[in-house]
Amino acid sequence: VTEAQVPAVSAATRAPASHLTTGRVGMVGAGQLARMTQRAAIDLGVHLEVLAASADDPAVTAGAGYRIGSPDDLDALRGLAADVDVVTLDHELVPNEHLRALVEAGHRVAPDPAALAFGQDKQHARRELAALGFPVPAFTTVSSGAEVAAFADGEGGGWPVVLKAARGGYDGRGVEVVVDAADADEVLRRGGTWIAEAHVDIATELAVVVARRPSGEAATYPVVETVQRDGICVELVLPARVDTEVARRAEALATDIVAAIDGTGIVATELFVTGSGELLVNELALRPHNSGHVTIEGAVTSQFHQHLRAVLDWPLGATDAVAPAAVMVNLLGGPAPTDLGARLPSALAIPGVAVHLYGKVSRPGRKIGHVTALGDDADEALERAREAASRLVDPQD
Ligand SMILES: Nc1ncnc2c1ncn2[C@@H]1O[C@H](COP(=O)(O)OP(=O)(O)OP(=O)(O)O)[C@@H](O)[C@H]1O
Ligand SMILES: [Mg+2]
Repeated sequence: VTEAQVPAVSAATRAPASHLTTGRVGMVGAGQLARMTQRAAIDLGVHLEVLAASADDPAVTAGAGYRIGSPDDLDALRGLAADVDVVTLDHELVPNEHLRALVEAGHRVAPDPAALAFGQDKQHARRELAALGFPVPAFTTVSSGAEVAAFADGEGGGWPVVLKAARGGYDGRGVEVVVDAADADEVLRRGGTWIAEAHVDIATELAVVVARRPSGEAATYPVVETVQRDGICVELVLPARVDTEVARRAEALATDIVAAIDGTGIVATELFVTGSGELLVNELALRPHNSGHVTIEGAVTSQFHQHLRAVLDWPLGATDAVAPAAVMVNLLGGPAPTDLGARLPSALAIPGVAVHLYGKVSRPGRKIGHVTALGDDADEALERAREAASRLVDPQD
C-alpha cells in the first residue's frame, strides 16, 4: 500500500470527542495541581483541557490538552468554557468577576465564584466565616501602624501581630509577623488591603480535605497534620497525631464549612489547634491542595480523582486511609540548581517511597515535587521520606 492509497481521515469520519471521553474538564492554570489532576483524568477517561501560561507548564508536559492564555483574559476563559463540561481551577489567581461572567453565560464553574471568594480574599473569608459562626483568630482590617498598635493593645492580645495581604499571597508570601507599629508601617507601605490577626499560640496545624458535589454529596478525608517552615508547608502526616476527639471536631468543622459556603470540588480547610485545644480556621483553598497530596498513595481515592468526580457531579470515592500512617515531604528547590536525573536513583533506592516530580525549574524554596511513604508508624515513615527528599534536593540554607 503506497502512501497515496491510504485514505485521509477527515474530521467528519473521526468519532466525535464525546465518544472517546467520559467528560471534559477545563482547568485554569497548568501547575503541579493540574499535572496531578491529569494523571487522574487519564484513569477516568476524562479529557482535561488546561489554560496554560506556556507549553512548558507542568500539566502540559504531562499530556493535558491545552491552550495558552492568561487567567485575566475573559475571552480566553470563555473559549475554554465553551469547549468543556465544567471549568475548575489549579490556582485562585483568576478574577472572580470573570468566573461570574462564565456562570451568567450558562457555563458550569466549580467552585462557584461566591465560594471561591473564600479562597481568594482573606479579609472576605475572615468576615464571612466569623459571621457564619465559625471560629477564626481575632482580626481587623488595617491601613496604618497606629491601627495595628491599637489592635495589639485590644483584641489582638499584644505583640507580635500577624499581617496578611488580603489577596495574592501564597506559601507564606503576604504573611508578616510584626513586632511594633513602625514594623507594621513598613509592611503596609507595600500597598493593597491588609488584615491584622492575633498571633496564635499554635500547638499543631491541621488540614481537612473535603470533596463536595453540586448535588450536595460530600466526602471528608481523615484530618492531616501539616508542618510549615517559614510559612511554607514542608511535611504532612495522615492521620494527624492529635486526640481522636480533636480529629473528629476538625473533620466536622471542615465539613460544615464546605456545606455552609456551598463549596464544590475539593476544598481544603487549614486549621490551627491552640495550646488549649481550641480549633481556629486559618484559610480555605477551593481546589486540590498540598495537604491532600498524601491521599495519592495514602487514601482509597486520591484528591485528584475525587476533584474530577466532584466537579463532574459523579459519585465520590471512599476517603479512608489505606495504611496506619502516610506521610509526605515536599521537595523545595535548594540554593543551587538540582540535577534531579542524577539524584533520583539514590532516592528510589529507599524502600516504599513514592516520588512525584512536577517538571518545574528549580528555584530556591520553590515546590518542585514531593515524596510519600506509608508505614505502620509515622516517625518511621517520616524517616524514610525525609531521607529520600534529602537525596533529591539540598537543604534550603
Ligand atoms: N495568626 C497566626 N498566628 C500564628 N501563625 C500564623 C498565623 N497566621 C498564619 N500563621 C503561620 O503562617 C503560615 C502561612 O499562613 P497562611 O496559611 O495564612 O498563608 P499563605 O501564604 O496563604 O499559605 P499557603 O501556603 O497555605 O497558601 C501558617 O500556616 C502558619 O504557620
Ligand atoms: Mg496556608
